[in-house]
Amino acid sequence: MAAPSPPNDPSTDPSVQDLIALRPWLKHDAMDGLLLDGVPLAGIADTVGTPTWVYSAATMRARYKTLTGAMSGAGLDMQVHFAVKANDSRAVLSLFAEQGAGADVVSGGELLKSLRAGMPASRIVYSGVGKSAAELRLALEHDIGQINVESAEELAMLSAIATATGRTARVAFRVNPDVDAGTNDKIATGRATDKFGIPFDDAVRLYAHAAALPGIRTVGLATHIGSQILGLAPYRDAYARIADLVIALREHGHTVETVDCGGGLGIPYRNESAPSPAGLAAAMRGAFHNLDVRLAMEPGRWLVGPAGLLLASVVLVKQTPLEPFIVLDAAMNDLVRPAMYDAWHGIVPVSAIDAVAPARPATVVGPVCESGDTFARSRSLPALSPGAYVAILDAGAYGAVMSSTYNARPMAAEVWVDNGRWSVIRDRQPIEALWERERLPA
Ligand SMILES: Cc1ncc(COP(=O)(O)O)c(C=O)c1O
Repeated sequence: MAAPSPPNDPSTDPSVQDLIALRPWLKHDAMDGLLLDGVPLAGIADTVGTPTWVYSAATMRARYKTLTGAMSGAGLDMQVHFAVKANDSRAVLSLFAEQGAGADVVSGGELLKSLRAGMPASRIVYSGVGKSAAELRLALEHDIGQINVESAEELAMLSAIATATGRTARVAFRVNPDVDAGTNDKIATGRATDKFGIPFDDAVRLYAHAAALPGIRTVGLATHIGSQILGLAPYRDAYARIADLVIALREHGHTVETVDCGGGLGIPYRNESAPSPAGLAAAMRGAFHNLDVRLAMEPGRWLVGPAGLLLASVVLVKQTPLEPFIVLDAAMNDLVRPAMYDAWHGIVPVSAIDAVAPARPATVVGPVCESGDTFARSRSLPALSPGAYVAILDAGAYGAVMSSTYNARPMAAEVWVDNGRWSVIRDRQPIEALWERERLPA
């Protein structure tokens, strides 16, 4: 069973000091306030404005090393494909390309962004339930490493396109193992009722069919049961089923060279206990070590989530007979996770004085016209003045990538911190960009 979701009792929230102590890339300096890898966030906010995403390159590198170290420590020769959907910034993709990672992509756009960032095509894996004919053609043209097929219908489409273009697609079957990952319903992907993957019981029959199709070379299996997974049991269950399938396919005379173990490893946003990469490695090893398969995985959130934050300013504090509303200039159009998944994110005052000032419960919201535009309720925070900066933590995954321009709010800037320096890696979207592609009807 996965760990239960943390209780939403604000009295058990970690303190600002606890949040920072558990994230060694963050520190409060008495003069300069909150630092990310030694760089004062107030200086970035003063120069670039808010809202602004800020990423720690060192943290991403360190986490990649920890993850790959756990895999090799378990004796696994693992190819890591960074799940681009978690953060598709060119700087992030280039960093992982330099580390030797490949990319797990789910659209033609992600495929092209990955190539442009220096990911070799041979290390790109394409997943997704609705790849269009144009996207499949693109994948074949670039001769990417592997296409994870999710249905019989897609297989037929791919075979036709590959044949027509004189190519051969290396195909893995993404199999739906019918395992509940115990995560938020909206990001669970491995139950029979979820749209993803080939139904487990159809896999052997369809693999035989695929192996005989023109333009298709079947290379193995893939599975991905969800995101923000906080227990190892669902992984063990899913991997046991996939291992059984490897054996069954081989008994039927089929070749299975590779297993793609997916992503999904969760992170503690609040005070959840999350499995370690070593624990995940042990689950993979337990299922696959004696099967003689090449292993791959597709982590996203674990690598980049903790390495990013969203810097925001207080617009005003609205007093009410209940707890006050701290209204930020960041909103659900920037970071949608609280509105979409009821996600908890740490919120830390940037000023060191604010961080130790007496706190009281407040509701933290954005200015968007939806009550769902709420970052936190009954959050213990000091009396913040208009203009005070706050950092919304663990926003490096499924943050900027999920932004929209709802309420005609431009996309926030993105900043990269590396080696004691910072630079803008995406300019704030100019307001004119919101309408420059529009036309009045003829
Ligand atoms: C196919 C696939 N692989 C990998 C991932 C990455 O998941 P996570 O960011 O939780 O590691 C996802 C996201 O849910 C996915 O859909």
